[in-house]
Order: sequence, then structure tokens, then C-alpha cells
Amino acid sequence: MTFMSSKLDKYEVRRKRPAKGKSGKSIAHESAVKHVTGEALYVDDMAELAGTLHVAVGQSTQAHANIKSMDLSAVKNADGVVDVVMLDDVPGLKDIGPVFAGDPLFADGKVEYIGQPIFAVAAHSFEQAKRAVLLANIEYEVLPAILEIKDAIKENFFVRPTHMHKKGDFRKAIDAAPNTLNGELYIKGQEHFYLEGQISYVVPTEDKGMHVYTSSQHPTEVQKLVSEVLDLPINYVQVEVRRMGGGFGGKETQAAPWACMAALLANRLNHPVKIRLARQDDMVMTGKRHDFYDTYEIGFDDSGKLLGSNIMVAGKCGYSPDLSDAIVDRAMFHSDNAYNLQDTQVIGHRCKTHTVSNTAYRGFGGPQGTVLAEYMMDDIARAVGKDPLDVRYNNLYQDGDKTHYGQTIENYHMKELLSQLESESEYRKRRESITAFNAANKYKKRGLALTPVKFGISFTVTFLNQAGALVHIYTDGSIHLNHGGTEMGQGLFTKVAQVVANEFDVDLDTIMVSSTNTEKVPNTSPTAASSGTDLNGKAAQNACIILKQRLVTFAAEKWAVNEDAIRFENNHVLIAKADETIEFTFAEFVAMAYTNRVSLSTTGYYSTPKIHYDREKADGRPFYYYALGAACSEVEIDTLTGEYDVLRTDIIQDVGKSLNPAIDIGQIEGAFVQGMGWLTTEELNWDTSGRLTSNGPATYKIPTAADMPNVFNTSLFDRPNEEETIYNSKAVGEPPFMLGMAVWMALRDAAASVSDYKVNPPMDTPATPERVLNAVQFCKERS
Ligand code: MTE
Ligand code: HPA
Ligand code: MOS
Repeated sequence: MTFMSSKLDKYEVRRKRPAKGKSGKSIAHESAVKHVTGEALYVDDMAELAGTLHVAVGQSTQAHANIKSMDLSAVKNADGVVDVVMLDDVPGLKDIGPVFAGDPLFADGKVEYIGQPIFAVAAHSFEQAKRAVLLANIEYEVLPAILEIKDAIKENFFVRPTHMHKKGDFRKAIDAAPNTLNGELYIKGQEHFYLEGQISYVVPTEDKGMHVYTSSQHPTEVQKLVSEVLDLPINYVQVEVRRMGGGFGGKETQAAPWACMAALLANRLNHPVKIRLARQDDMVMTGKRHDFYDTYEIGFDDSGKLLGSNIMVAGKCGYSPDLSDAIVDRAMFHSDNAYNLQDTQVIGHRCKTHTVSNTAYRGFGGPQGTVLAEYMMDDIARAVGKDPLDVRYNNLYQDGDKTHYGQTIENYHMKELLSQLESESEYRKRRESITAFNAANKYKKRGLALTPVKFGISFTVTFLNQAGALVHIYTDGSIHLNHGGTEMGQGLFTKVAQVVANEFDVDLDTIMVSSTNTEKVPNTSPTAASSGTDLNGKAAQNACIILKQRLVTFAAEKWAVNEDAIRFENNHVLIAKADETIEFTFAEFVAMAYTNRVSLSTTGYYSTPKIHYDREKADGRPFYYYALGAACSEVEIDTLTGEYDVLRTDIIQDVGKSLNPAIDIGQIEGAFVQGMGWLTTEELNWDTSGRLTSNGPATYKIPTAADMPNVFNTSLFDRPNEEETIYNSKAVGEPPFMLGMAVWMALRDAAASVSDYKVNPPMDTPATPERVLNAVQFCKERS
């Protein structure tokens, strides 16, 4: 990767001037231009090697069935087919479940969802492979299927045991409260709709080695699983990821099966093998955001302050555990959102259904918890006749409070952030004008909501919070950077390179970042949990500090000065002697260090401090810190059709001291729109046999440019992280996803206006026009 302008001219003597593009500056994404011109290389853009074979996958047509018989002879004899494989052909590990078993690479005598892989075909072209797959003759013995969360709960049908968080005596607290409410909320899932679908290209190398090019957020896991499936040591497999065309969590675990299938065929045939899922297959065969069914029972006083709560969150996991244990945990961790639940019990179920195995998606279960907290606040507000914003203020955590999982709240600037947004969005004034508008208009109604987000940063599985980096300095002063994080459009490569530029105080275009590669930095965590920059930025900084120390030691000795006399400044290295300052360009200096036998290459490493969590006791500090934010949205609904527009959205997001404001604002706006899409127009539908019917862009509506708020203001809450993250920044990838809640709550506010805010209309998500219309009807009938 190069930054914008130039490649480094090794003969150029860099003038002494402030280095360009260091951290803190709004630098364009390293691939911004290439993304737009189409020059950025994705796996499918790589020139194919001669003899490359293409794969199509035979899928289950039943949600739950035993396979009575399977005749693949016609498939094998079809035009262009080279090989057909199924589970028995796997030489090594047959179950590729990422944390817990449960994901056979191909069906193991029975099928558990429509779309489950049963066999794979390699042919000379994709079309040939796809046609051949249709010739399979499979007989099923159909079994009863469980497709809904509520049925799974009734049958105690879970992929993992139920888990609980507890604080105080919720029963006593609720029973003693002057007011109580209970309710339920059904939250539908979400398709990732990354622009680049799942893809892997596997090239066999000498001695059974495998070079895997893949679109994965977790190269190390792909490496490990490919090696296990092929029964090879891990060091036989190299996994490389230059970039993804979006991952959003959908490529944390679910890039691996396709890589393993391609590797299995490449290993048998000694040919390069490519697998690329067609959009419809991708939508049917890969997991999505979990649906959740949440219930609550709350007690509160007349001011709207919570006194006790009893919460259940139940995720629709699909047929296997995948990451669901951690995802439902995160929903439980976030069922408080920004508020003190007081005495509480939070129960989390991991429901098994005969559907595709649901997986990570931006927020990782957190959103399905936070929506419940907002729904409760909204309910309380109408029950006590107060503005929902005031009820929200009233329930915010205070510093020193403890969460229901034992973490102490610190540095909680939420009240300040909310007040700032309240005034910048002119919330109170607009509340009045909306009231006036609604009084004056019979059919059009407006709604307003201001909702906070508090999101815990760190993998809740503590050991994952580590990262490595590799930095080389060459003798012309150019720097090669590699780290374990993957680039999926979020700007990680740009930000980490900015950190390195900052450490050496050199121009950003001095630094080249290469593809994520398991041969350069091993044993990596997935790029997930928004922690890519926190972890890899620190690991890269650590490598820079090590190299700088070597250079300083060398110079101090050579010029007989103290170490603190040496400074890296403005693309130069300065050595302050008693009577003069000796100056070298960075390039001259490192070339000299090289001839003096100083090693100019090192790895760097980082692991997050302070975090610990005892899951058995549900107690500890799972999160290093919280990222805060808030959004205020105004909507207008048509009470005759349920259609709506988002008139305006104002956002303030706390990114600490921003490493790159332009990229951070891009992440915030993108996440907000994706979150809004989840809660409004994106609706997944299955028929009664368990078949996904919303399986393409015609039936599944992601937001478009036309759905953006008419007025859209985003700003950063300018305050360094109190924790010692990289330059005191904060993670930004997932937290603003939940800002989309403001639109959903504004829609509910608009619907409630027809009852003069006396009725709490049900508002399951997504709040499609149909659901908005139902909510309006509900309010009309009850007022
Ligand atoms: N932004 C873009 N453009 N594309 C993506 O796939 N994924 C999101 C977020 N922002 C994503 C994105 C998710 S789910 C996560 S966890 C983070 O980016 C991961 O990257 P980070 O840890 O470097 O922020
Ligand atoms: N977030 C995202 N991905 C993860 C996590 C998490 O907390 N834990 C394991 N994978
Ligand atoms: Mo993001 S859901 O943690 O990949």
C-alpha cells in the first residue's frame, strides 16, 4: 500500500519540515482512490493461475432431516467436473466449529438447515460446477424442525447452556416499587451484505503446502482449520489477506468453511482452486446477526427512576454454537446500555434452531441488548408522563456504580455528552415545534428521540486481547509495516501506519503496509470487537520503540552523548552535542546504523492491561473502557401508510483523541446508517419450511443514499481516553452502529403522538412501514 502521492525517492533529501500524515491528521484511507477507480485488488481480481478449478457446493433442501441415500454419479460424470468431495473425503478434522464443535465441514449423515453444505464439486469453470451440483440425487427422511426462538425456549433446545448475571435482589426491589411494567421485544437479525462475498483462492505449493488467499477477518483461524482439515502442521499453511470488501463480522468465523473446502480440493488435485459464493448462496449459506427475543419486568418510581429489573435475552443461534456463547454474553453485558439497572437479574439463552448458524455482526450481540434498555426507558417515560430524554438522564450510571457483571463505572462522561447533543441538536426547541406540527397535521406526524450508547471495548474472551506487529527499516529510510489486523474498509492500515509515522516522525508515505500474512505475524486474534487499532496500533508502536531504542543506543555511543540528546524529528535524526547539533536525514541515519551492524527489523507485541473476567462468577472487568456516543433523530411518518423519512440526525461520538478524524467520522456515519437499516428497512424472512425468502437485494432492502437523513451532523466528543490506549484514542468500529436506535425510537415517538403520548405501541424491529402503521393503529385504538 502506498499513500497518495509518491513512492519514496531514495535519492531525495527530505527537507526539514514537519512530517506529513502522522496520527491525528485526517488522511484519506490508503485505498480510497483505488476503491473508487476499481484498481484495488480483491481475491477475485487476482490473475488466475493456469489450471485453476472452480467450486460449487451442494446444499441441503431440508431444514432437518436424515440423509437416507445420496447418489452423486451424475454429478461426477457431468461436463467439466474434475472431483467431488464430501465428509468422508476429509483426511483430518471433520468438524471446523471455531470454539465448540458442531460445524461439520459437510453434512454428517443428517442436515440441520436449508443450505447446509453436503458435498462440493470442482470443475473447470464455475458454471460447470454449478450445473453439476443440480444433478445430485439425495433422499431425505424429514424430521421435525424448530425454527423459532420461542419454540426453542419451550423445548429447552439450546446450543450452549443458559447463563446469568445478577446484582442485588431484583424480586424484592420490583415488588417494593410503586410502579411496574413488563413487556417483550422481538428483534430481527441482519444480513451482512458485504459488497464482496465469501471467497478463497488456494494455491498448493511444494511439499503439500498451501497458500490461501482469502477474504477473512481471522487469517490465523483459517490457517489452523485448513491445517487441521488436511491433517498438516500449521506451518504448512500460509494465509494472506490484502483486504476485504467489507466483513462486518460475517468473515470472523464464516470465511473458514469455504477456505477449507477449496484447500481440500487443492490438496487432492494439486491444482489451484477458487471458491466464490454467488450472492444468493452467500445469503442462504452463511450466518447473520442473531434474531433476539427479549423480555423485561421493571419497577420504577414516579420520577421514572428504575428500582429493579428482571431481564431475559434469547438469541436465535441457528444449528450450531459458532460464536453464539460470546454473542449472547455481549447482549447480556449491554442490556443496561447507559443505565443503572439497579437490582437486577439478566438471563441469556442460546436457542438452537434448524436454520443457518448465526454469527458475529457489528456490535456482536451488544445491539440486541441495548435496544431493550432504550425500549424500557421509552416505556417508563410514557408511563410517568415525562419526556423520554429526562427519564434517560435520570437513569444514567454515575461514576463508582457497578454493572450487573461487576465492572465499576469510571470516567463516565455520558451526562456531559448528552447535554452537549441536547443543545447542539436544539432538542427542547424542536420538541416544542414537533408538538405544534403534530397538532396542526392530521395525517403526517413527527417524532424525535435522543438515545445514548455505551459500548464495552475488549474481547470478552480475555485471551484474545493481544496483537503482534513486524517493522523493518530499509537502508533508504523506507519502512515496511505488517501487523495481525485485517483491512475491511475500516481504515485500520491507514491508522496503524500513521502511528508508525508518528513514532519516527517521518512522512506517512515513508511507510508501506503489506497484506496480513500468517508468515509475517503469527497467532493473531480476529480483527473484531472494534479493537483492531487499539491492539495492532500498540503492537506496531512497541516495535517502533524497540527500533528507536537500538538506534538511540547506537548514536549515543558513536557520538558520545546521553541517550536523551538524540531526537527523531521532522524526517530527521538530531544529535545534540555540547556545542552543536548534528543532523541527518532519517534515511542517512538508518543507513549509517546498518553499516554499524544495528538490526533494523523487529517484532512488536501488545496485550491489553487491567482486564480480567471470571465467567463462572459473572464478575470482573471484561472491558478496558467504554466508548460513548449519542444520536438525536427526527422522523416524519405518514399515518395512513406507515411510510417515513428521517428529517435530521445529529451525532456526537466519543473516539477519545482521534487518530484520524476523517476516517472516524466515516466509520460513525457508516455505522449509524447500517444500524438504522437494521432497525428500519432490512427484514429477513423465512418461509414455514425454514427457507430464506429474502435472499437477494430485491427482497432485502439495505439503506441507499436516498435513505440518509436529510440533515446529518456528526461530531467528535473531544477528550482523550483516560486509559492508556494508543495515543489515548478510542475504538470506533462498532459503537456507533447502535446510534441507529434514535431513528427507531423517533418512529415510536411519532406513532405514540396519536395517543398524545399515553400509549406505548409495540415496535418490534425492523420498524418497516407496516410495523409503523400497526403501531399507529394500536395507539389510535387505545386512545
Ligand atoms: N467498516 C467497514 N468499512 N467495513 C467493515 O467490514 N466492520 C466493522 C467495523 N467497521 C467494518 C467496518 C466491525 S464489525 C468491526 S469489529 C470493526 O470495524 C473492525 O475493525 P477495527 O477493529 O479495526 O475497528
Ligand atoms: N467481539 C467480537 N468478536 C469476538 C468477541 C467479541 O467480544 N469475542 C470473540 N470474538
Ligand atoms: Mo466485528 S462484529 O467484532 O467483526
